[in-house]
Amino acid sequence: MAHFDGKVAIVTGGSTGIGRALANALLSRGATVIITGRREARLREAAELLGHADRLETVVNDVTDFEALKRVVDDVIARHGRVDFMFNNAGAGMAGEVKDSTLEDWERMWSVNVKGVIHGIHAVYPHMIERGEGHIVNISSGAGIVPQGGMAHYVAAKHAVTGLSGSLRTEARQYGVKVTCVCPGAIESEILETTTYRGLDGQKIREKAPRVFMTADECARQILRGVEKNRGIVPITKITKVNWALYRFSPALGARLNEVRFRMMKKIGGGR
Ligand SMILES: NC(=O)c1ccc[n+]([C@@H]2O[C@H](COP(=O)([O-])OP(=O)(O)OC[C@H]3O[C@@H](n4cnc5c(N)ncnc54)[C@H](OP(=O)(O)O)[C@@H]3O)[C@@H](O)[C@H]2O)c1
Repeated sequence: MAHFDGKVAIVTGGSTGIGRALANALLSRGATVIITGRREARLREAAELLGHADRLETVVNDVTDFEALKRVVDDVIARHGRVDFMFNNAGAGMAGEVKDSTLEDWERMWSVNVKGVIHGIHAVYPHMIERGEGHIVNISSGAGIVPQGGMAHYVAAKHAVTGLSGSLRTEARQYGVKVTCVCPGAIESEILETTTYRGLDGQKIREKAPRVFMTADECARQILRGVEKNRGIVPITKITKVNWALYRFSPALGARLNEVRFRMMKKIGGGR
């Protein structure tokens, strides 16, 4: 608990899902929390739900715009004196085969899931280096440690996040700055509603996909435990941990399982 008490944390994409649960967990541990998102109404709803009005701030912001995100971070530093934790959480999903997608699909996935994280890092890292402390937490995915068929755009973006987090962690240590990469499996959130589907019926996938979701609150609890222990990678959900272990043990076996999952997704989603 004490690890977050009195600290200042920014959570991008904090109006719903994992980000909102993270904000909730941080507030209950005594932190001041700034949540961002593009939709003002969703931020307002989150603020009502989260309470702690004296320690919660909402800011409308799009992480794909570096200057705008830098202004948010600079403003927090100006008013609170520091940012202790930067949760680069904002993200979006995409499912469908490469053959059914466009170059714009790649660009969109890259823009929010990778550039959004890079923007968060560049906005806060110089400040953390100057202070000689701080913790950057990047939300990747189970798809960021094990490739999955029918999700190449998302997988590519999340692998980039995992890779850059590992590199930055090595560099940042000399300046007293910590870096953690979080790789969740299926978590209850709005991501299935906002995911872009190509060549697949999103409605069918939402209805028929196996319901093995962890709650966002439990996910947030595990994230904060990993952050407190300064883990490099925090895999979340049993399935993700098993997939990751199998993939490292035998990439060939991991690829076979990947095919089974891909065929199941196509069957459920009606892909050709
Ligand atoms: N849920 C899962 O199963 C799962 C699994 C692995 C990884 N993840 C990752 O976890 C993170 C959170 O996702 P979630 O599952 O909690 O989904 P979610 O409920 O859809 O939350 C996404 C959040 O990001 C915000 N957002 C989206 N694009 C943005 C942008 N350009 N700028 C600023 N904010 C933006 C959304 O608000 P606005 O739309 O109003 O901007 C929302 O607050 C994502 O990085 C996702 O890839 C999720």
